[in-house]
Amino acid sequence: MSKFLITGGAGFIGGNFCHYMVSKYPQDEFVCLDALTYAGNLETLEPIMNAGNFRFVHENICHREGIFKLFAEEHFDYVINFAAESHVDRSIENPEIFLKTNILGPQVLMDACLKYPVKRFHQVSTDEVYGDLPLDRPDLLFTEQTPLHTSSPYSASKAAADLLVMAYHRTFGLPCTISRCSNNYGPYQFPEKLIPMIIKKALADEPLPIYGKGINVRDWLHVYDHCTAIDLIVRQGADGEIYNIGGHNEKTNLEVVQTILNYLSKPQSLITFVKDRAGHDLRYAMDPSKLEKELGWRPKYTFETGIGRTIDWNLNHRDWLEHVASGEYLRFMKEYYSSK
Ligand code: NAD
Ligand code: DAU
Repeated sequence: MSKFLITGGAGFIGGNFCHYMVSKYPQDEFVCLDALTYAGNLETLEPIMNAGNFRFVHENICHREGIFKLFAEEHFDYVINFAAESHVDRSIENPEIFLKTNILGPQVLMDACLKYPVKRFHQVSTDEVYGDLPLDRPDLLFTEQTPLHTSSPYSASKAAADLLVMAYHRTFGLPCTISRCSNNYGPYQFPEKLIPMIIKKALADEPLPIYGKGINVRDWLHVYDHCTAIDLIVRQGADGEIYNIGGHNEKTNLEVVQTILNYLSKPQSLITFVKDRAGHDLRYAMDPSKLEKELGWRPKYTFETGIGRTIDWNLNHRDWLEHVASGEYLRFMKEYYSSK
């Protein structure tokens, strides 16, 4: 029996990871910790809330006293940190909370891991730490050796956390791994991110805001495949190592939006080009060959198989969408897009 702490588990990827792990490993125990910011929703955890091997704790990863108390009580084997401020546009509007949550939060967790020793601290990072690739060099991919070269306050905060994790490994001997994944999509994604936002607006026949010319490229991975990769890395990855995660699904933003519109039989005329994102990264593309060769990971979904399921999920979970799309979400969407 192993005991896991999953932080940020009321969010999109952490929530999917909780669902995956709780049913896959009934003999293990899972404590999910989340501050329930605008992006965290207990409804995401409803299907597993009453599972015997799962419990939710409302706490902030920056709150040292509360975190240390929890570690003293629980004695975790594995700590997996998903908790973060995750939306690039918000980091351009207000960087400070990104630095607090995304850098100081992991530091508190790692200090707790040193005081109450764990088998592994895993930091969930992102391909955005590598910066971007040119559009006219499809041969170039990010590898784990690509230098860090960040563009937004969000990606800078994630890169800072990665450096801190490696420093804790070298200086204090913290047992750790880092994964860097490409763009995720799938169930329970908050509708400020491109894919769920486009689905939501298209269903309401609202204009679809596309930054610049829509030619920026992202490398899309279904969240289920991100979960299987993290599970493998945490259990079998080598200590102190970084693993890229991605499924070779590069698409321009325009291709993604057109696919969604076709699936929903909505007109392309909903597409509206708006002012570009400041510092907008041109292209992300991951080389996941280390993860594939060393740990045998293979993604289950292509973009073509995953996107239809994701649109169907959104169609079948309108209640979830309506409940999360309130308060702070509405304020941000109104203020942010009115200046575009
Ligand atoms: P999300 O915004 O949907 O969820 C983040 C969760 O963290 C929320 O539940 C929120 O309440 C919680 N949280 C925020 N601040 C907290 C704090 N101080 N203490 C405790 N909980 C806090 O984000 P996501 O898309 O699920 O991303 C999860 C992780 O994966 C992040 O670390 C992100 O950088 C990384 N990542 C995301 C993607 C992607 O495409 N979404 C890709 C690669 C990596
Ligand atoms: O690559 C991994 C990263 O993917 C994660 O680390 C981040 O947490 C996650 O938010 C995501 O970042 P992106 O900036 O790539 O995702 P987003 O959904 O915000 O935007 C995807 C692309 O769509 C990007 O090129 C910007 C564009 N876009 C986005 C929005 C919200 C638009 O054209 N219009 C929009 O309104």
